[in-house]
Amino acid sequence: MESVLYVRGRSPLSGHVTISGAKNAALVLMAGALLCPEPCRLRNVPNLLDVKRMGQIVRALGVKLDAHEDVLDIDATHIGQSQAPYELVSQLRASFFVIGPVLARLGIARVPLPGGCAIGARPVDLHVRGLQALGADVQIHHGVVRACVRGGRKRLRGAKIYLDYPSVGATETLMMAATLAEGETTLDNAAQEPEVVDLANFCRAMGAKIQGAGTKTIRIVGVPRLHTADYRIVPDRIEAGTFLVAGAITQSEISMSPVIPDHLTAAIAKLRAMGTQVAMDSPNTLRVVPGPIEAADIETQPYPGFPTDMQAQFMALSTLSNGNSVITETVFENRLRHVAELQRMGADIRVKGNIAVVRGVPMLSGAPVVATDLRASAALVLAGLAADGKTVVQGLHHLDRGYENLTKKLCGLGANIERVTVPSCETATEPLETGQPSV
Ligand code: UD1
Repeated sequence: MESVLYVRGRSPLSGHVTISGAKNAALVLMAGALLCPEPCRLRNVPNLLDVKRMGQIVRALGVKLDAHEDVLDIDATHIGQSQAPYELVSQLRASFFVIGPVLARLGIARVPLPGGCAIGARPVDLHVRGLQALGADVQIHHGVVRACVRGGRKRLRGAKIYLDYPSVGATETLMMAATLAEGETTLDNAAQEPEVVDLANFCRAMGAKIQGAGTKTIRIVGVPRLHTADYRIVPDRIEAGTFLVAGAITQSEISMSPVIPDHLTAAIAKLRAMGTQVAMDSPNTLRVVPGPIEAADIETQPYPGFPTDMQAQFMALSTLSNGNSVITETVFENRLRHVAELQRMGADIRVKGNIAVVRGVPMLSGAPVVATDLRASAALVLAGLAADGKTVVQGLHHLDRGYENLTKKLCGLGANIERVTVPSCETATEPLETGQPSV
């Protein structure tokens, strides 16, 4: 049995949608809580498969977790284990990021390599080199990264580190590790993503001394110990961006909150270039005012550039534009796998390497499609909302990883979407009489 979505297109959307807490912030803040030998509370935690997996990983390290609604209490007073289990790490790349806080707390950490992933090789060399610069011996044996503080010392030592690329994960790993190191660390060419800033703010709430998060240079003065904190996670800018595209692609006026509009500058600018206006009804409420969809070129970049996590959704939009768009993916080497699925729906897209040329067509037609990764799954749902007829989206485990109640939220706006459980071989047909909606 497997769950699939039946999306019946061309229903206009209207109304308001509530944006959940940011997945990528929640995951790394859960790792960040390992730095603290006192209980911490996170609020606005989204209810997602990835968050559950991260919870399993920190539990396996001996941490106590207590979740109620969107509040997560994390008690890392005792970390009993320094090795994260492979079965869990292999399912969630972000879980590798526990290496920084565990090493900083215990002086030793063992984390399996996260392995390949649908959107590219995603190595961890920048994490490893940075930890070495902070005074760790790092060895990789039998697929496990083993890091321990050099020379039998307990604490890492601050250092000047230049990142060859502004990796989000490496910036976060090194910022967490440096928080408890002796002396000062400078991270140059650091990632500037809002989730990095959220992690810095959470660490500061626990007593860390961090400056410059959100710029290319982050300075951290190590402290011997952190203390309890109660912290609210920022809204999910990628979820908000996905709903902005939902309004644009269905030609519907919808609003959303809470959002931090500054986190969406690149996506909003691109939407405007594509003929959709975005109004700010209040400092944390955005409203889509749709217009005829124009073509526009897009190139993904590290923040504040156009986010790779919005590329697939914008490609879905550009398939219906009045013209040709060139979409260039620069962040990940294999993140155009949704193209083949959009083509099944009648999109006119040609790919060469990391570049997709999209020629707008007047209409997409519903078809059975398979989600290839998290954001691709959202793009297929968006395409299905605009398409003529029924789209059947398979591979929903990707969607469940990163969107809280997407189906329910879209149905609340008037979309005609049904989640049904069917035998694997029947996914392209009508729902079985016995199929129960699982959302
Ligand atoms: C994070 C986000 C992900 C987003 C990505 C880029 C989380 C949990 N995930 O992923 O949603 O798409 O940022 O905004 O926060 N790289 C190396 N060596 C390294 C680390 C990265 O070569 O040691 C490369 C990667 O292969 C990739 C690029 O750098 O090509 C960007 O990766 P990175 O910024 O690290 O992304 P993640 O932190 O994995």
